[in-house]
Amino acid sequence: MCGIFGYLGQDEAAPILLDALRRMEYRGYDSAGIATLCNGRLQRRRAAGKLTSLANLLVRNPILGRVGIGHTRWATHGKASVTNAHPHQSSHVAVAHNGIIENFREIRVELARHGITHDSETDTESAAHLCQYLLNQGMTPLEAARNTVQRLEGSFALAFLFEEEENLLIAARRYSPLVVGHGKNEMFLASDVIALAGLTSTVTFLDDGDLAVISRSGLEVYDFTGARAVRHRTQVSIDSTSAGKGSHQHFMAKEIYEQPRILAAAIKKLGEDAKLLVPDSIVQAVADSAQIELIGCGTASYACQIAEYWFENLAGLPASSGVASEFVHRHRRLEKDTLGIFVSQSGETADSLNALRHMRERGGRTLAVLNVATSTMSREADLVMPIHAGIEISVASTKAFTCQLIALVTLAISVGYQRGCIDKEKYEHHLDELGRLPGLSSAALSCDAEARSAAQEISGSASVLFIGRGTMFPLALEGALKLKEISYIHAEGLAAGELKHGALALVDSNMHVVALAPSGPHFTKTVSNTEEIKARGGQVLLLSDTQGLEVAPTGGWKAMTMPAIDPLFAPIIYAIPLQLLAYHAAVELGTDVDHPRNLAKSVTVE
Ligand code: F6R
Repeated sequence: MCGIFGYLGQDEAAPILLDALRRMEYRGYDSAGIATLCNGRLQRRRAAGKLTSLANLLVRNPILGRVGIGHTRWATHGKASVTNAHPHQSSHVAVAHNGIIENFREIRVELARHGITHDSETDTESAAHLCQYLLNQGMTPLEAARNTVQRLEGSFALAFLFEEEENLLIAARRYSPLVVGHGKNEMFLASDVIALAGLTSTVTFLDDGDLAVISRSGLEVYDFTGARAVRHRTQVSIDSTSAGKGSHQHFMAKEIYEQPRILAAAIKKLGEDAKLLVPDSIVQAVADSAQIELIGCGTASYACQIAEYWFENLAGLPASSGVASEFVHRHRRLEKDTLGIFVSQSGETADSLNALRHMRERGGRTLAVLNVATSTMSREADLVMPIHAGIEISVASTKAFTCQLIALVTLAISVGYQRGCIDKEKYEHHLDELGRLPGLSSAALSCDAEARSAAQEISGSASVLFIGRGTMFPLALEGALKLKEISYIHAEGLAAGELKHGALALVDSNMHVVALAPSGPHFTKTVSNTEEIKARGGQVLLLSDTQGLEVAPTGGWKAMTMPAIDPLFAPIIYAIPLQLLAYHAAVELGTDVDHPRNLAKSVTVE
């Protein structure tokens, strides 16, 4: 979603701002802009569409200055247009904003009473006008920024740039992330640490309620009442190599294809973190809990749903899973010793953060299973378990999903052993199988040609069903999400047993059904469900191993061949053909694979 970047230093700001905005492109946006101070005067350039439009505009109409702010906007209030693009300006102040200002209509009405009108449909413009109004009352920039943020309701990360203030940037955060980068005689401000790649690795993460005053000589932090706050610098390592696609056409393909290497590294690192053989504090915390709630959004919520089976079946723990945006509407009394496990790639998803806060307010302990170790969620959760997927750029999550599953199954196995539900022999068997996953993921990738051919057929469909049983059911939901989000083909995931309770009515010769049927306890029943589909003319794509494909009734289906795998780990490996299927369908249909329409990588608004 939206990205903010600020620069204050010795070099021309515009190219630095543009480069940094490019590093945040993966988050999703539909317009962009920058503002700088040249000889004390504010100048702005904004463009709808991709950053190339802004870059072209800057070539035709450059702006100078050694201090500036930039923004990529993902439209919330008002369409993606130049007028709605940030930074917004009110004579002497320019503002870039992430989040939603909930009381902006009220502020608009108030400002209108003073004869102040708005050009855009955005909530952000009201913050700029309010700040200018306060400057007009004789306030200093710091006082005006502080009084502005005090008035705002909702979530925000804000960057303020003031005319005639060549050595000042002001930033404020409530719920939306912001980080300040410290360079040599230069300072940076970013909403995403990846934007700082190649610029600095010394950073200060701002907390909620922080107002940051940034000058070339450093950073001062206050709260919204003006009291000084102490924030420490930390060193981060920002992997800028992930910013390249390698030999692939899209980041999504690169991230699908690097899974064997990433899974191997993740398993190795988890071994070090979770001390598989000697349970550590995380394993103990889960083992001691009476009830587990697994919460996430989208793909992460399907990882939660799969893990629900694992915690119940391997560790004998009552577990339930749900989507974060709904969890906050539930006020069920928490069992004593409930542990909330929050799964998130970014650690910045507004719905997941709200759910985590909701859980904490109600006295539950929280464990965050995260990819971005420096995220807001990592600072708010009681315990953190990293998944080690590396930076994920494509909006559609692939390697983060399989790494979430690896982390969760590792935890469930360790907890099961700790609680005595799994004996040593079984435990060691599971660890051996876990170690085979990177090799099996390589084998799964070799179904690429089958996936491409199936995708060609599917890309002509109006709708596709995905079915599975046990952990293959939530994986069917994930397969459907992956297909719809990047190819825009309607898709639905179903528990195979539910077909005849309604959805079978949809099946005719135009319907493609993807059946997830690894050999194992649910194979026979799932294949019987595919027979019901075939009997009604439906087109079945059967995902199974050689043994399964040999015994499945012949005729009427296409196959994707998977390696034989222990059913416990099947969702991790069967995720890969589903990613390939969605990817090839999207390429076939010519969609913007890495930046699907209307979507953002990091969903920082509710
Ligand atoms: C789908 C996808 C989304 C995210 C969801 C949660 O491919 O990526 O459904 O899984 O927005 O994001 P995180 O994991 O960052 O909380």
